[in-house]
Amino acid sequence: MAKQIKQIDIQLTTQKKEKPQQDKLGFGVHFSDHMFIMNYAADKGWHEPRIVPYQPIVLDPAAKVFHYGQTIFEGLKAFKTSDGRVLLFRPERNFARLNRSNERLGIPAIDEELALEALKALIAVDQDWIPTEAGYSLYIRPFVIATQPALGVDASTHYQFIIILSPVGNYYPEGVNPVKIYVENQYVRAVRGGIGAAKTAGNYAASLKAQETAKEKGYSQVLWLDGVHQKYIEEVGSMNVFFKINGTVYTPALSGSILDGITRSSIIQLLRHWGIPVEESVISIEDLFAAAKNGELEEAFGTGTAAVISPIGELNWQDEQVRINGGVTGEISGKLYDTLTGIQRGIIPDPFDWMIEVEI
Ligand code: COI
Repeated sequence: MAKQIKQIDIQLTTQKKEKPQQDKLGFGVHFSDHMFIMNYAADKGWHEPRIVPYQPIVLDPAAKVFHYGQTIFEGLKAFKTSDGRVLLFRPERNFARLNRSNERLGIPAIDEELALEALKALIAVDQDWIPTEAGYSLYIRPFVIATQPALGVDASTHYQFIIILSPVGNYYPEGVNPVKIYVENQYVRAVRGGIGAAKTAGNYAASLKAQETAKEKGYSQVLWLDGVHQKYIEEVGSMNVFFKINGTVYTPALSGSILDGITRSSIIQLLRHWGIPVEESVISIEDLFAAAKNGELEEAFGTGTAAVISPIGELNWQDEQVRINGGVTGEISGKLYDTLTGIQRGIIPDPFDWMIEVEI
């Protein structure tokens, strides 16, 4: 470990930015003073890991990322406890998933231990950027881009791996209040065998048009159905989804076209720890609406790094609306939010050893 840290060259900025006011952070609009960057060349492998002042990157207009979307990303968070400790939530899972996304996109694997050491070193340098209040955190965005300037459709010979840090508040303007979700009927996000399970830009680009239309209709996000039958529930794009029906919590099984969410798997673990039955299964939109109409759908919520736990108060499918739990936050959703954020902020015990302390 120590040997790897020494490989990382650190160049500190001479011009620190003014920090934004915590209650005005929003999501992903402010960035810290430094970033981590490492290059890949086919003949050298990953090399030159370094921390440098946050700055624009210069790329050739022919860089493959611009033309063929060969790029992947991750999202995770750091928290500062009231006694000044810095905690990361399950970062090793993010770097393992980053390499699964790399694999799918034909990008060479990154040394996961080095990536974690680089992140810890970057956080230590920019520790003043970690918000301290409840509801705020330091969002971490690692990503890889294909940089080879060439228009042939094949995997790039050159890449950059970059980590940037952004102090954030809530992802949704609704905060932890229930969001309204529009079930998308026309477009699909992904199909099995495609790239839906990878955290890659194309999945998000494919969602933007439907997202705009949903927003115009007064909905925060789109719920995607499967790409073949447009019948089975997949995910919300920025969140995995859960439904409590007659006392059992259901979430779509990992089908190959939805994201293997780290918050998703943590929530399944928490619910089972509490003795609440959880099933990862195929859920049809017809069955969900039938359950909502006959009063069996007790709660619905989304999970994600950015969104944490986001209760769903209303669903619209084919212009039919159902309200869930009277449009207010359900008991399980509220308890999950309080428990997860409590563990993350170090204010309640962490029975699963999810949190990793960063030495600063
Ligand atoms: C995350 O929760 O980290 C995400 O990736 C969702 C979104 C902001 C793209």
